Amino acid sequence: MIRSRIIGSGSFLPENKVLNNDLVKFMDTSDEWIFQRSGIRSRYYADKSQATSDLGLIASQRALENAGVKKEEIDLILCATISPDHEFPGTGCFLQAKLGLSGIPAIDVRQQCSSFIYAIAQADAFIRMGMYKKILVTACEIQSKALDFSTAGRDVTVLFGDGAGSVVIEAVDVKDPTKERCILSSHLHADGSFAKELWLQAPGSAYQERMTQAMMNNTEDHPKMNGKLVFVHAVKRMPEAIQEALNFNNLKISDIDLFLFHQANIRINEATAKVLGIPEEKIFNTIERFGNTTSATIPLGIDTAVKEGKLKPGMLVASAAFGSGFTWASSIYRW
Ligand code: UT7
Repeated sequence: MIRSRIIGSGSFLPENKVLNNDLVKFMDTSDEWIFQRSGIRSRYYADKSQATSDLGLIASQRALENAGVKKEEIDLILCATISPDHEFPGTGCFLQAKLGLSGIPAIDVRQQCSSFIYAIAQADAFIRMGMYKKILVTACEIQSKALDFSTAGRDVTVLFGDGAGSVVIEAVDVKDPTKERCILSSHLHADGSFAKELWLQAPGSAYQERMTQAMMNNTEDHPKMNGKLVFVHAVKRMPEAIQEALNFNNLKISDIDLFLFHQANIRINEATAKVLGIPEEKIFNTIERFGNTTSATIPLGIDTAVKEGKLKPGMLVASAAFGSGFTWASSIYRW
């Protein structure tokens, strides 16, 4: 039967490493507060001259090289981002042009922190239906240019960083998907009634004028978050999503070799691990070093885990994410 499998990964972090103490220069915060509340010590910011697709380009090239796939073999680009180069066209189109792949389709995926899992679910579905054979899934983000660096924005700003991660997914003929390298399943959810609890409201067509000076004066062009509410929902939905994926595949926590969660707050991942009884050594976290890179977090984590020898061929991996929308999702795949 035709299934899809991830055959390579790549990632990119900009050079500018920003420590918690560097943020103290702009806002009333401290290394102690940020680390205790979120588990973050540092994050990376892109150069002002870089666009989101520039980060995605490098991660994509590295993933193609790692997979041993020539760019001409790619049938489709899925580009996940909430920090697009421009409002339109999609960042996938800019990425496609930079890769020199004119002609193939490029789809943007905009489900915020859950985007990467939404994207691999789409790639998996396209491959299972026989429409495409090799798909590049690239998640790339430049959050630093949207953040409010005054004290008023500190609850959000200290959490986010820039980066990109990419994987190449190909069609594979398997006899037993439970034992061979492939994506077993993905599970996607959203609840738009919470859309305004974590959002970047302007510019937007919901207003009489899509962008005004008053909106900028109100800092509506910076992301806003009801942190406590997001936290409460995240610690409920993340374990639920993992349990759903386990049940669907008749698996138990002990069958999973590695858990690669979204990285929004170390406390969310610790709570998820506690509820599900996941031993600490089975979880790969990057939040301390990279902060929350939204859609790029999971593929960046995958590539980092590979490079650090934590993710090895044959391992069964479970990923889950929760974010703005609200959206949440999970996936189980054999690496
Ligand atoms: O990936 C997208 C999904 N995002 C998330 O999952 C994030 C979920 N939420 C969170 O991670 C947490 O709610 C935060 C890390 C954002 C905040 O942690 P908290 O423990 O919920 O803190 P809080 O919002 O209750 O704030 C406690 C205090 C407040 O001061 P008062 O009212 O007690 O005087 C805040 O004003 O900490 C203050 N505060 C800060 N202090 C220093 C908020 N941000 C900061 C800061 N530095 N950066």
